[in-house]
Amino acid sequence: MKILGIETSCDETAASVVEVSADKTSVSLLSSVTATSLHLHAKTGGIIPEVAARSQMKEIIPVICAALQQAQVLQGSDSPAIDALAITYGPGLIGSLLVGVETAKTLSFVWEKPLIPVNHLFGHIYANWLGQNSAEQHKELPKFPAIGLIISGGHTDIIYMKNHEHVEWLGGTRDDAAGEAFDKIGRLLDIPYPAGPTIERLAQQGDPKAYQFPRPLMYDKALDFSFSGLKTAVLRAVEKLENRNGQIIADIARGTQDAIAEVIVYKTLQAAEQYDVSSIVVGGGVAANKTITERLRQEAQKKMPEVTVFVPERVLCTDNAAMIATAAAFQHTQKSWREVTANPELYFD
Ligand code: KG4
Ligand code: ZN
Repeated sequence: MKILGIETSCDETAASVVEVSADKTSVSLLSSVTATSLHLHAKTGGIIPEVAARSQMKEIIPVICAALQQAQVLQGSDSPAIDALAITYGPGLIGSLLVGVETAKTLSFVWEKPLIPVNHLFGHIYANWLGQNSAEQHKELPKFPAIGLIISGGHTDIIYMKNHEHVEWLGGTRDDAAGEAFDKIGRLLDIPYPAGPTIERLAQQGDPKAYQFPRPLMYDKALDFSFSGLKTAVLRAVEKLENRNGQIIADIARGTQDAIAEVIVYKTLQAAEQYDVSSIVVGGGVAANKTITERLRQEAQKKMPEVTVFVPERVLCTDNAAMIATAAAFQHTQKSWREVTANPELYFD
């Protein structure tokens, strides 16, 4: 089965075709095309929804065409050789979501193909089910039960996955998301948006003992996070600086990343232990941070060697359409285009 995925929930315009084997043990990537308006937002320190949506209006058709062409599923004036369309219907920015959702509904109607609405947050998790047959990935698919960790610019959530059908939300951030913390702290350090990758790079040169920032809620029983106090602590540290040289910025970057990593790793392992799972599946832009995911792998290996940690390759951590098409293959709630509407506030049921 071939699925065309479309993703426009934030600043990206993405389309991808994946092929799912009949027994669903392998999902291969036939194409993945992503256009981003990130360069238009770098100066403003965050995404401007209107700017993102306008850019997506221009990109959506060329991006879909490129994905279909690369996957070699175009058939002249006939509908492309795909079995279904998958679309992110939330959560996200309303203008951005509408560009993708309305395009997908139109294509579903014109091509007479079913439409599968996908929750973007599940998309991040399902990036771990993609390309399992390729050499650089794990040979096996993640095994259930699993703990899912979503760490992105907009979300930080821990979910329990008994199987593909039964998913339970266990906890999340009470204020800023992990990626948002990186980005807001980046702004204090004059690092352009998105700051996560730059903080990761700078932290490599930082002294781990120079700054000890707070680890909020770390020993709290709830599987919740809070990152706004960390941002305030960094602000206080920055205000005290008499001069800002490269080493000090690297030290603060290190202190920030260590604090975020420690809380994320601790809470995820707490959930894995509590729910006695076989796998931990990580997704979202912050999962592109190798320091955090390596630490999670090492600690898991030490404390619960029977648990396997899955992290998608870097390009599949940040927003993309391949993860949406993959999630659709497993969740598979085909709808008529009439029943699908954008839902910016979508979360977990
Ligand atoms: O998942 P994503 O592409 O978009 C959302 O759905 O939010 O995540 C974007 C977030 C940004 O906050 C960015 O700073 C963060 O992911 N990010 C990172 C890294 N790469 C991206 N954070 C820390 N380290 C990284 N290497
Ligand atoms: Zn995302």
